[in-house]
Amino acid sequence: MSLEQALFITVEGIEGAGKSSNIAYLQELLEKRGHELLMTREPGGTELGEQLRELLLGHKHDGMSYKTELLMMFAARAEHLHAKILPALAEGKTVICDRFTDATYAYQGGGRLIDIESIRLLESFVQEEVRPDLTLLLDLPVNVGMARANQRSAPDRFEKERHDFFERVRNAYLEIARQHKERVKVIDASKPLEQVQLQLSQVMTDILGAAE
Ligand code: TMP
Repeated sequence: MSLEQALFITVEGIEGAGKSSNIAYLQELLEKRGHELLMTREPGGTELGEQLRELLLGHKHDGMSYKTELLMMFAARAEHLHAKILPALAEGKTVICDRFTDATYAYQGGGRLIDIESIRLLESFVQEEVRPDLTLLLDLPVNVGMARANQRSAPDRFEKERHDFFERVRNAYLEIARQHKERVKVIDASKPLEQVQLQLSQVMTDILGAAE
C-alpha cells in the first residue's frame, strides 16, 4: 500500500516536446515510490472520448468551427472525469494525464483565439472544483518541437497548423505557468532526454520529498 498521497498530474507541451518518453519516465518514477497509477490522455481516455479524439484529430471534419472543437474537447473531458479520473482519484490512485484543460487554454484560447472567459465558463461547468495538483509543462522553442514532430507520422488536424499558431500556443502555456507558479512546473524540454528526466525527477523530489 502506498503511503503517498494520490495526485492528479497533467503533462503539457507543444508538439515534439517529448511527452510520451517523459510520461513513461514519470510513470516509472512514481511506481517506484509505490503509487498506484491511472495513465490516461486527452482528448480521449474513455471509449466515447477516444471516438471524439478521432473526430478532433482526423481530417474528416477539417473545416469544423472553433466552437465545435472547443465543445468537443470539453465533452470528452466531462466523460473522462466522470468515468475514469474521479473514480481513480477516489480509489487513491495517482492519475497521470497526457494533456488536460491547460491544453484548451493554450490551443483553443492561444491558438484559435477563443476568448478566455468562454473557456473558464466551460471549465467551471464541466470540472466544478476539480483542477490538477501538479502540471509539468515541457517547454521548448517551436522550431525545435516542429522539427521533431515532423519526423513522425502524417500530421493530424492540429499538427497541420502554421508556425505562428504554435508560437501562440507556447506563449499561452508560459503565461499559464506564470499565473499558476505553485501548480505548473516548467521543464526545459529542448535539452537531451537524460537532462529533461533529471529536471523531472528533481521537481518530483521537491514536491514529494526524497524517496525512501
Ligand atoms: P497529442 O495528445 O497526441 O499531443 O494530440 C492531441 C492534440 O489535441 C494536440 O495537438 C493538442 C490538441 N488539444 C487541444 O487542442 N485542446 C485540448 O483541450 C486538448 C486536450 C488537446
